[in-house]
Amino acid sequence: MDFGKLRQFQLSADTDIKPFKCAESDLNEFLFEDAKYFQKELLAVTYLLEYMEENKTAAYFSLLADKITFNPDDKGVWNKLNRNIPNTKRRKSYPALKIGRLAVSEEFACCGLGTFILDNIKYAFSNVKRLGCRFITVDALSSAVEFYERNGFKFFTEHDKNDDTRLMFFDLKNFVIE
Ligand SMILES: CC(C)(COP(=O)(O)OP(=O)(O)OC[C@H]1O[C@@H](n2cnc3c(N)ncnc32)[C@H](O)[C@@H]1OP(=O)(O)O)[C@@H](O)C(=O)NCCC(=O)NCCS
Repeated sequence: MDFGKLRQFQLSADTDIKPFKCAESDLNEFLFEDAKYFQKELLAVTYLLEYMEENKTAAYFSLLADKITFNPDDKGVWNKLNRNIPNTKRRKSYPALKIGRLAVSEEFACCGLGTFILDNIKYAFSNVKRLGCRFITVDALSSAVEFYERNGFKFFTEHDKNDDTRLMFFDLKNFVIE
């Protein structure tokens, strides 16, 4: 697919959302029924990627603030995170950005668009420095866990390994522009 033909913009109250269908019906519903409400109430900001030639929504994602908090049951991961942050005091939390939703239209799946979106988010939040944000978090649907692993995300705990979603994170300090 030609990424040059994509137009990314932030959803607004009067956006006419072009047709979109991905494999997860909850994510289709969110876009058409809830995204504007979340935006109005400052609960999440949604971005759309339209494929200009075809008048279709190719993908969307929504972002919100988050934090990673120390859990005594997951000391191992916490110690690892602390080791990657020099001179840190014994912190109990770190600032993060949550990917609330990310979905690529069935028609455009497996063309690298999901990875392209993650790379843009990683770039924006590790370079722009408008606010302190060390990690990206996501509650990954079990069907999407492999996708996030391939994009450098790690599990925060083993306690959710049989759940429908798994908490995963990416350390923005690890983002290297290739
Ligand atoms: C998951 C999703 C966002 C991936 O987007 P995409 O554009 O298809 O992903 P990419 O083409 O960038 O794939 C990157 C890599 O992950 C792999 N991958 C993508 N989706 C995968 C999946 N569901 N299971 C296993 N591997 C997957 C690809 O094969 C590719 O591997 P490669 O690097 O060896 O080529 C998309 O399939 C989607 O929207 N699915 C439905 C909604 C969903 O599950 N969203 C996530 C909510 S947490």
